[in-house]
Amino acid sequence: MNLLQLFVIGIIEQLYIANIPVNKRFCYKTFCTCYENGLAVCSSRSLEYVPKFPTFVREVSMINTRLPLISENTLYNLTFNKIEKLKFEANSVESVSKNAFRFLKQLTTFEISEQPQLTSDNLKDSFTSLQSSVQYLYFTANRWALLPDKMFDSLKGNHIKVLHLTGNQFKNLDCTIFQPFGRLERLHLSNNKIEHIVLKEFGTLLKLELKNNFLDIIPSFCVSSSNSSSLLPNVRTLDISNNYITTFQKHAFECLPKVKVLILDRVNVNILPNNIFSNMKWLRHLSLNSVGNPKLKVIEDYAFNSSTLETIHMQNCRFNFFIGMCNPETIFSLCPKLMNLELINNRFSQNDKFLQKLFRPLSNLRWLSLSSTKLSKLPLQVFSYMKALNHLNLAGNRITGWQYPVDIFGNKSTIHILDLSQNLISVVNESTFPRYLRENLQKINLGNNPFVCTCDQRWFLHWIKESNVTFLNYPLSFKCAHPPEKTGTILANFHPTDDICIPWNPLYTMAIILLSFFVLFILLGAVAGKCQTNLKNYIYLIRLNYNRRQGYLPILNSDDFEYHAFVVYCDADRTWVHSELLREIESNNGFRLCIHHRNFEVGQTITCNVDNFLTKAWKVIVVMSNDFAMSEWCQWEVDVVQERRRKHGKDGVILVMLTNIDSKHMTSPLRILLDSTPYLRYQRGVGEVLFWNALVEALNKPIGHPPVAVV
Ligand SMILES: *[C@@H]1O[C@H](CO)[C@@H](O)[C@H](O)[C@H]1NC(C)=O
Ligand SMILES: *[C@@H]1O[C@H](CO)[C@@H](O)[C@H](O)[C@H]1NC(C)=O
Ligand SMILES: *[C@@H]1O[C@H](CO)[C@@H](O)[C@H](O)[C@H]1NC(C)=O
Ligand SMILES: *[C@@H]1O[C@H](CO)[C@@H](O)[C@H](O)[C@H]1NC(C)=O
Ligand SMILES: *[C@@H]1O[C@H](CO)[C@@H](O)[C@H](O)[C@H]1NC(C)=O
Ligand SMILES: *[C@@H]1O[C@H](CO)[C@@H](O)[C@H](O)[C@H]1NC(C)=O
Repeated sequence: MNLLQLFVIGIIEQLYIANIPVNKRFCYKTFCTCYENGLAVCSSRSLEYVPKFPTFVREVSMINTRLPLISENTLYNLTFNKIEKLKFEANSVESVSKNAFRFLKQLTTFEISEQPQLTSDNLKDSFTSLQSSVQYLYFTANRWALLPDKMFDSLKGNHIKVLHLTGNQFKNLDCTIFQPFGRLERLHLSNNKIEHIVLKEFGTLLKLELKNNFLDIIPSFCVSSSNSSSLLPNVRTLDISNNYITTFQKHAFECLPKVKVLILDRVNVNILPNNIFSNMKWLRHLSLNSVGNPKLKVIEDYAFNSSTLETIHMQNCRFNFFIGMCNPETIFSLCPKLMNLELINNRFSQNDKFLQKLFRPLSNLRWLSLSSTKLSKLPLQVFSYMKALNHLNLAGNRITGWQYPVDIFGNKSTIHILDLSQNLISVVNESTFPRYLRENLQKINLGNNPFVCTCDQRWFLHWIKESNVTFLNYPLSFKCAHPPEKTGTILANFHPTDDICIPWNPLYTMAIILLSFFVLFILLGAVAGKCQTNLKNYIYLIRLNYNRRQGYLPILNSDDFEYHAFVVYCDADRTWVHSELLREIESNNGFRLCIHHRNFEVGQTITCNVDNFLTKAWKVIVVMSNDFAMSEWCQWEVDVVQERRRKHGKDGVILVMLTNIDSKHMTSPLRILLDSTPYLRYQRGVGEVLFWNALVEALNKPIGHPPVAVV
């Protein structure tokens, strides 16, 4: 022992002396540890006596020490404590003396286990010193094959409630040996080699455990073949799992009136016969895990006929729920109270109709496990009929997804816990988990699925982040399986961003182009509307020049006339003619114009004047406007102008549209004139210069070609 150890032990002993219980500390050298709750555990092959413990110790476990003899003297140090529980395990005990427990007045629990040298005969004698306070006895793994006659007779006056004889080597057991236990509640006979057991009447027994024995038949629970009173009238839990039982005889489970929990795991029965459990009026929980050798072959039509059954566990039976292998319409039809059904590792038909028939009677199911059943798709209209389904386990199948969740889960889901781990689901999105399916969900396991780490997974990542649902095994079991460069990456480390994920829709491009065209079109229209007048005037000008280049010979010369032009206009347009027109044409360009207000001779009629002056003018300028169109005078003058046009050709007449003429004022002679003769439009502001240029050009243009017919 080094100094440090000595120091530590010193401190521990200080604590021990102070007798302050701490959570856990050594209380006898390093051999024994004492716990706050009053337990002392000693363990060391070099410990050859029972040491003295602090007074708070109430329970002592001597494990793997060396105590060949247990006697009054050996247990002397315990008389300083109020020991309630005493356990000897693997101490190489060879004998226990008659008066050994004489002073342990508070003892309730006594255990002596794994003492292969200790015979049951030897122990039997010491029972006389066990006080009447003792209620729990454990004699396990002592390699006992036989119990001596009247083994427990001296315990007759005790109040033993629990007896463990597990892990011994009993082969044949006659339960009359337990006769003295008038108040026994639990009898544990598991892990022996019992081939044959004769039960006796246990009026108070609540639990009987016979698992891991060699029974090849279910023992009879009836008083006799003629008396159908029960030997176990109060037993609630019966465990006969892992025996060599190959058949359930017809009346196997009769005379078990109050059994609620029946455990038959790993029995070798291949056939579950009709009505086998139907006489168990209290049966709630039936466990048939791993039944069958090598697998369960037949479930007869009414095997599960039970009006009380709430839970069936049938893990690993590898039963084929297939067409022809069982009757789907009857199997679960007579257990209306069934709430929990565990069918892990059986096989199921993928036929929707079959599964619908099988599960349709189970509308009260709360808890259903179809884990590891090789399902590759979820059946339609099955879960949706389970209106109280709370926990659904579909782990370990080959499910890739589903298209119509309404057909599978109905339009309202009651599922709180859903396990879809270890399937083949690659994408989780809103079409697989619509709102009504998520609404009541509290926990979901989607671990160990081959997730695709692409933009398709964005909805899922968002769901994980935003929802209150607990994602079991997240994030460690959520890994990417695709694409190859992401294989093995934790899904939580995959962050697809908007600019990668939101694809550019070609429709957007088209829409933008169309919109641009539309805007351009509107703009052009607006501009064209604004410039219409200028455009027309410009065309007028081009046409003048074009015609000139054609090289017509002038037939009338302006020099032969007194005036360059005679101006026809109505009184309302006088201001414009007198100010604008005269200024531009006469003052600025040196033409001579004939205007009736200025030039007409007083005393002559207007018509005479017009005729007179028309002959003196080379060309005629007609100033048109609404007012002009409305005046009668205009109508007359239009006729005169038409006449002139016929004689001198179209170049002899210059039409100026001062303001637009409303269609209602348009007369047909005027219309004919305008249709046959190009005209200029007056425009104030932008384009005014163009107008005057065009007018001057028109005035300058020689009158060349012969008169043409009016169109
Ligand atoms: C009682 O315990 C002490 C140590 O605590 C030990 O030395 C002694 O031998 C024990 N007495 C008996 C009778 O075992
Ligand atoms: C059946 O056995 C029980 C208990 O052993 C007994 O009380 C009862 O009288 C018997 N009934 C008949 C009909 O023998
Ligand atoms: C189901 O069990 C009850 C009660 O034991 C029985 O009366 C009934 O006949 C059984 N039903 C069928 C179809 O065997
Ligand atoms: C859900 O389905 C049931 C029957 O299929 C129907 O009666 C009910 O109106 C549906 N509810 C909704 C919200 O669609
Ligand atoms: C959801 O994922 C499945 C594949 O698992 C796919 O077929 C479906 O189109 C996806 N739905 C949406 C809305 O992305
Ligand atoms: C999560 O729970 C909180 C508080 O209970 C609630 O306010 C919130 O709406 C819930 N979120 C979702 C997505 O259900």
